[in-house]
Amino acid sequence: MAPLLEINNLKTYIRQRQSEVHAVDGVSLSIEAGETLGLVGESGCGKTMTGMSIMHLLPNGGYIAAGSIRLGDRELVGLGEKEMRHVRGNDVAVIFQDPMTSLNPTMQVGDQIAESVRIHRHASKRDALQRAEEVLGLVGMPRPKERLKDYPHQLSGGLRQRVMIAMALSCEPKLLIADEPTTALDVTIQLQILELLYELKQRLHMAVLLITHDMGVIAGRADRVMVMYAGKIVESASTVDLFENMRHPYTEALLASIPRLDQRSDAVLYSIPGLPPDLSHPPAWCRFQPRCRYATTRCHEEEPLLTGSSDHQYACFNPVANSVSRVGSVR
Ligand SMILES: Nc1ncnc2c1ncn2[C@@H]1O[C@H](COP(=O)(O)OP(=O)(O)OP(=O)(O)O)[C@@H](O)[C@H]1O
Ligand SMILES: [Mg+2]
Repeated sequence: MAPLLEINNLKTYIRQRQSEVHAVDGVSLSIEAGETLGLVGESGCGKTMTGMSIMHLLPNGGYIAAGSIRLGDRELVGLGEKEMRHVRGNDVAVIFQDPMTSLNPTMQVGDQIAESVRIHRHASKRDALQRAEEVLGLVGMPRPKERLKDYPHQLSGGLRQRVMIAMALSCEPKLLIADEPTTALDVTIQLQILELLYELKQRLHMAVLLITHDMGVIAGRADRVMVMYAGKIVESASTVDLFENMRHPYTEALLASIPRLDQRSDAVLYSIPGLPPDLSHPPAWCRFQPRCRYATTRCHEEEPLLTGSSDHQYACFNPVANSVSRVGSVR
């Protein structure tokens, strides 16, 4: 069966006055129906721009310079705004880190959800409000009928995020892009929202692109993971395989920076030294090389391409060998 989403060699650039940022630089990925793919990496590595390329919601100056994005049997690259409006909401929906940027502060939450149902489903106002109440129930909103009349500022952060999820799911999209869906929430609410997303995905058989900088969010929730660094995918594997048998030094460093339960609370958490490269002038060799503890001369001369087996790929000349035992020594 063909995957639901198939991205091939996507290049998304952002034009600036003096230069052009290569935000996404040749990314390929695919997601099956009902599957969760985690996209992880540090801030600025191009995760959001990958998601926003699918939605055609790029910032000013942003454009898809090359590649293909197929959703089902449809090519999205080159699709006009009118057709994309239909794709957004009906086929693909997105939830962001901060619900306040997506919710209208002057509109009751019931009307906001109903409006999206009316646009996409051509439902009557009454039916749309009925659907709003139903999806608020689905996302675990207490007393959903009463909440319809609330304004966003009357709700807590966790409840607002539930409203965003309800809005995203109101038209039963085939693909949900969850971009740092819990980063702004405190830890217990984070867990509740992640569990809710997982349960909804199972129930609605949606595909999910789960974008996060936090490896801990991916663990146990994504079926497969792609690790992104400086606009490129540097490692891709099933979640279990990635955690047990990581091959890219960047993945190893990301995993080493997750806090562990068995760690002393006053222990200093590992942080990766140095900074990612400037994406308006990306180097022609390994982009992680200046920060890598295993780098050799070759890493500064050539760009490593993805290699390995079809279910575990990595872009590195000196892959981590016995990674499980090495994580401790990174600290
Ligand atoms: N509006 C913009 N104008 C110019 N450059 C931008 C804009 N938004 C993002 N970029 C650049 O594009 C690159 C990729 O950014 P992106 O937002 O995709 O990163 P990210 O991985 O989602 O990071 P974060 O974890 O911080 O959300 C970065 O180098 C960033 O500086
Ligand atoms: Mg982002």
